[in-house]
Amino acid sequence: MGNESINWDKLGFDYIKTDLRYLSYWRDGAWQEGVLTEDNQLHISEGSTALHYGQQCFEGLKAYRAKDGSINLFRPDQNAQRMQRSCNRLLMPQVPTDMFVEACKQVAAANERFIPPYGTGGALYLRPFVIGVGDNIGVRTAPEFIFSVFCVPVGPYFKGGMKPHNFVISGYDRAAPNGTGAAKVGGNYAASLMPGAEAKQAHFADCIYLDPATHSKIEEVGSANFFGITANQEFVTPKSSSVLPGITRLSLIELAQSRLGLTVIEGDVLINDLGRFVEAGACGTAAVITPIGGIQYEGKLHVFHSETEVGPVTQKLYDELTGIQFSDIEGPAGWVVKV
Ligand SMILES: Cc1ncc(COP(=O)(O)O)c(C=O)c1O
Repeated sequence: MGNESINWDKLGFDYIKTDLRYLSYWRDGAWQEGVLTEDNQLHISEGSTALHYGQQCFEGLKAYRAKDGSINLFRPDQNAQRMQRSCNRLLMPQVPTDMFVEACKQVAAANERFIPPYGTGGALYLRPFVIGVGDNIGVRTAPEFIFSVFCVPVGPYFKGGMKPHNFVISGYDRAAPNGTGAAKVGGNYAASLMPGAEAKQAHFADCIYLDPATHSKIEEVGSANFFGITANQEFVTPKSSSVLPGITRLSLIELAQSRLGLTVIEGDVLINDLGRFVEAGACGTAAVITPIGGIQYEGKLHVFHSETEVGPVTQKLYDELTGIQFSDIEGPAGWVVKV
């Protein structure tokens, strides 16, 4: 099935109304059977907790078109589990893994004509979410919930090949030490809008957050996770209860070890010790792997490998990860789920 209205080469990361989305209500203590609907508008109570108290969470994953035309989801069970933890944190009912994965499969299949062809580098971005709805006014958990999954076709993060970006350390925090940083909830992203805008205004790709307790350790890179490569062939990534545990990060930890033979260290990344890294990068579903050219901190730019060239280890990690996502390379068992 083609889609003559879409210029695959011009796709960015913008909302496009696709054909069908999945919708299920939680009422009387249970999730009702979901339906696919053409309607992209939600009609909810003005008292919905999602609107006033931020009782909502979301996920982001992609459906990829393989060379043989089949459709791949990448580790959707991991997104399901992360959403269950987010729901738990905000006192929302969990969506069972089977229901989550089935909803993603249905949405990808129903919008197949929006999946970018193999070779364009694009993918179908799936956005599952849970929101608290129903009549309410006090600060308490909602009487009803909606679980929905919609999708938009997105282009490759890098048009014309991977290239490094510069980032700036933010003076703001996106999450509190024992707050909701590890959950994928809207409040963290609302808190990140101003720091992100200020970083872009200053001509950086995005900002980097330090740990909210001591402001001495790198935590996250905009909406992606940080990793650094040392001259001793170590893959280092921050471990903190206020960092979102990314599925790309989790996958790179496994690939760095099993396929590149690197030593993985999950631990502190001190902002005053960036000299230990010969390469650095940001990783996430949207960012895939973005090489970090340099980091601006207290008026100085610390450059890693290069501001213009991708480092060799970062390139290998990228090739391995994207090779698996598009089925050009065999991945570990269970990573690719066919639609
Ligand atoms: C704050 C934040 N950190 C990290 C990530 C990377 O997570 P993932 O690899 O699961 O996309 C994301 C993106 O979802 C994010 O929003």
